[in-house]
Parts: sequence; structure tokens; C-alpha cells
Amino acid sequence: MSAETDLSVALRAPRRTFAIISHPDAGKTTLTEKLLLHAGAIRLAGHVRARGEGRRTQSDWMAIERARGISVSSSVMTFEYGGLVFNLLDTPGHEDFSEDTYRTLTAVDSAVMVIDAAKGIESQTRKLFEVCRLRDVPIITFINKVDREGREPFELLDEITETLALDVSPVTWPVGMGGRFQGCFDLRRNRLLRTEWAREGRFLEVDGIEDERLAAHLPADIRAEFVESAGLASAGYPALDAESYQAGHLTPVVFGTALKEVCVRELLDSLLAWAPPPKAQPATPRAVEPSEPAVTGFVFKVQANMDPNHRDRVAFMRVCSGRFRRGMKLKQAATGKMIAINAPIFFFAREREVVDEAWPGDIIGIPNHGVLRVGDTLTEGADLRFTGLPNFAPEILRRVRLQDPIRAKQMRRALEDLAEEGVAQIFRPIQGSDWIVGVVGALQLDVLRSRIETEYKVAIAFEQAPFETARWATSDDPAALKAFVAAHPFAVAEDRDGVPVFLARSAWDLQRTAQDNTAIRFSATRERA
Ligand code: G4P
Repeated sequence: MSAETDLSVALRAPRRTFAIISHPDAGKTTLTEKLLLHAGAIRLAGHVRARGEGRRTQSDWMAIERARGISVSSSVMTFEYGGLVFNLLDTPGHEDFSEDTYRTLTAVDSAVMVIDAAKGIESQTRKLFEVCRLRDVPIITFINKVDREGREPFELLDEITETLALDVSPVTWPVGMGGRFQGCFDLRRNRLLRTEWAREGRFLEVDGIEDERLAAHLPADIRAEFVESAGLASAGYPALDAESYQAGHLTPVVFGTALKEVCVRELLDSLLAWAPPPKAQPATPRAVEPSEPAVTGFVFKVQANMDPNHRDRVAFMRVCSGRFRRGMKLKQAATGKMIAINAPIFFFAREREVVDEAWPGDIIGIPNHGVLRVGDTLTEGADLRFTGLPNFAPEILRRVRLQDPIRAKQMRRALEDLAEEGVAQIFRPIQGSDWIVGVVGALQLDVLRSRIETEYKVAIAFEQAPFETARWATSDDPAALKAFVAAHPFAVAEDRDGVPVFLARSAWDLQRTAQDNTAIRFSATRERA
């Protein structure tokens, strides 16, 4: 396949790839739907009614898909707005930190953080924010539900500044809140956005917050309060500085209500104005620029059982450089194998469109039979590997007990499939036959069990394992590693790539073992080859 010669490949089809991060119930599903609606990707928005645990363990978006009857993927939604193509990636709405979510955030260039105005920053928002910070992912904040009784805007902004150490720059400001809510005001463009105009995107443009024309549209007391608080906000917070935002130091803040659609367009306009284009991706031996002509990408997620009748998997690849075309052959860096990608899935929120190419920042789904793994690098031939998609040392380890021994084969398959998806990590002790599963959050165990039971019809139980944590064991001296493994038959397991993992009974056990075995490195993360 001939390489694209135009070096400005990424500039020819500008993409903005982002995710929405939030605590469950802050309004992510509602906002996603309204973003798609206002971008023109779907025609009618109604209520998405799919609640409770069933929804949480799957994708929030499947609910939208069912409710709308439109063909969207549960993982990626692509829409156009203002001449740009936006890829919105779903982050599963588990309460617990999950590796899957982390990995999805490695595939985005920016994020929208949704906060419930009554609750402020909640635990999950904070964890996801920390992941974004690690990777310098810039964030636009949407403070949702200002139509309900909530906390004062200043209090919410101060909480962001104090707890997340981020500068804030308000883009819109609520006019009344809770029962007195009238709408919002666009501070940059001086527009009154009344609730009843929101659906059609109407607004009143004025000369500033004190403009007398506002009097005709707002009760006097609410207007007076608004003029005072918006005046303080304009004077008291820094102006929006794109550089500071892109470096992850400042967050533009949009107050609004997803449900009533107030400021959904302002959020879209903010993304349009500031969300960064695809950036260079870390890789060895060198970073990869999106403007490079040859195609490269990495797999950040594998989804099994999208169709319950097939055991096929879809690997989600982020295109990092070049112009991908249907039918291309790409090399899997880990094995050197060339893989023909004849039936890639492209994601559009409208009817599934036939698309033949993808650009840097795009996500493509690659159906396969388990060849592609999370962390895989694919290239046109170049010998490089993307870095930064680690496995995390599990904090909870459990032995898997099969209820019906006849189902051993099915259980193995289930564990392998779900480990591939990143639902849990699996370890096979060198001695003994029980599988050990490792997770970083307790909810992952529930998800794992329920999926094994419903998708594979295998009943299992988790039992306490005598281990507290795990560390990948590596060494520059293969003989030393072999000797270490042989000397610890009951405390070493293999991960699913056959890499030895030391299972420690306690922090003290780990420390002592490390002291006694200086030729061995014990790592809390393992980057996929
Ligand atoms: P999530 O994906 O982040 O978990 O949140 P989701 O969109 O499902 O919203 C959680 C609840 O908050 C829903 O109410 C939703 O209608 C409501 N909500 C979202 N945005 C707003 C808003 O701007 N204002 C107000 N007042 N409510 C909002 P629910 O009663 O739990 O479900 P439903 O029966 O309304 O669907």
C-alpha cells in the first residue's frame, strides 16, 4: 500500500477526539444524547430510560441506541459540528475505577467533565480527573442541573480550584438557579439563553450583563442578582487562555442543564473553539506525529460478544498517523504478523455509513478472532510500539471456584475473553490449578461474575486468596528469573502472556522478597509488549 505523500495528513480531516468523565448520575447519558441532537447527528431526543445496575455494567450508550433505534456503536460516536469531526468515546459508568476506563482515556485528546451542581466533585469524577491529569488531557467542565436547587456557582468553582488544583474560567453563568432558574448567560458572546429558547438554539444578543434589554426577559430581582454575581465572576476569574487550557492548567466552565438543553450548544462551541487536535503519541523508539504519512495505531479496548451469537471480538484502534483505508494490511508489532483489515467498522451516529477511510484521531473497530489484544501496536511496517497502556497491579486477588467442574473449559474461555477486554486480570499459579483473578476495584468482581454467568452460563464463586498484591517479576538475567520462579512455586503465577507475577502475602512479604532477590525487578505496572 503506497504511503500518503502529503505530510499534513492530519490537517486534511481535522478530528477532535474526546470523552465525557463524570460520577454516575451526574448526567453523562443525557448530555451525550443532547450533544448528538444539537450537532444534528440524531433528530429527536427523548428520555433515555434504562437505569440501575444492568445499565451500569454495560455501556450507557446502549440505552441510547435502543431508545433511538439508531445505529450507534456502544463505544464510539462520531458526529460533525462546525466543520470538524468529533469522536466521542464512552467511558463505562462504573463507580469503581476500572482499567477499561483508564485505557479509553489514553485514546482521547481532551475530556468534558460533568459535575452535578448539587453535589460538586464526587469520587469517580476525581479519580477520572487524576487519570486525565497524568496524561495532561485538557478538560472542559460542564456544571449540570443548574435548573435544580444546587450549590452556589462560586462555591462550585472554588471546589474545582481547591480540590483539583485547576484554574477556572467561566464561559456561561446561570441566571437564577433551582426554582428561580431562567436560563444562562454566555459571558464571552454576551447572549441571554432562556430555557424556553434552548431547544431551537435561540438567544438574545446584548452589549453586556448590564444591558437594559435584559429587563424585558428577566424578573427584576433575579436580574439584579445575576448582574452582581456575573459581574464578580467576570472580574474575579482569569480570562480563557487557550494555552493554559491545553496544558491542563485551566478549565473553561460551562454552567447549564443537559435535560433542558441550556448551554449544550455553548459546550459544543467550546469544544469547537478549544478542544485540541490529535497530538503526538508516545512510542518507542520515538513518538509518532499525527502528520506522518504512514498509518499507525494502537488497540485500547477489545470487546467480546457484541453479538451474543458469535464469539468474535472487536478491537478498537485509535489511528495515530496516516490515512487508513479499508483493505489495508497492518503489521501487529508484537508478533510481526500482517493483518488484512477488510471489514473495519467506522462509527457514525447517523445511519451506518459506508466509510472507506479513517484519519488520525479516528477510532476504527476491527473484527477479529482474538488475534488483536489491548495494547497492540499496528503499523504499515514501521518497527515501533506505542507505550502508555499499562496493566495495573491488582489490589484485590481472588481464587476462582467453579461450581460445576464439567464447565472448566467454558470457564477458562470466559476468563480469557474477559481478561482480554480488561474486565479483570487473570493469573495461573505455577503450582495448583485454580485461576486467580486480580482487579483494582471491587465492583470489577461483580461485573466479572455476572458476565461469566450470563454470557457463558458458568456459575462461579470467588474465594479469598492468601495474597494481598501482585508484582510483575522481570530480570536482565534470564537464569536469575528462572531460579526465582523455581524457588517460589506457590507464590509465582503467570499472567496471560506467560510473564511471571509474584503474588505477595503482604507488603512486608513483598519487601523482604525484593531485598532477597536483587536481580529481580518487581513492577506494579506492566506495559504491554
Ligand atoms: P449518568 O449517565 O451520568 O448516570 O446520568 P443520566 O444522564 O442518566 O442522568 C441521571 C439523572 O439526572 C436522570 O434522572 C436525568 O434525567 C437527570 N438529569 C440529567 N441532566 C439533568 C439536568 O440538567 N437537570 C435535571 N433536573 N435533571 C437532569 P432520573 O430521574 O434518574 O432518570 P429519568 O427517569 O429522568 O430518565
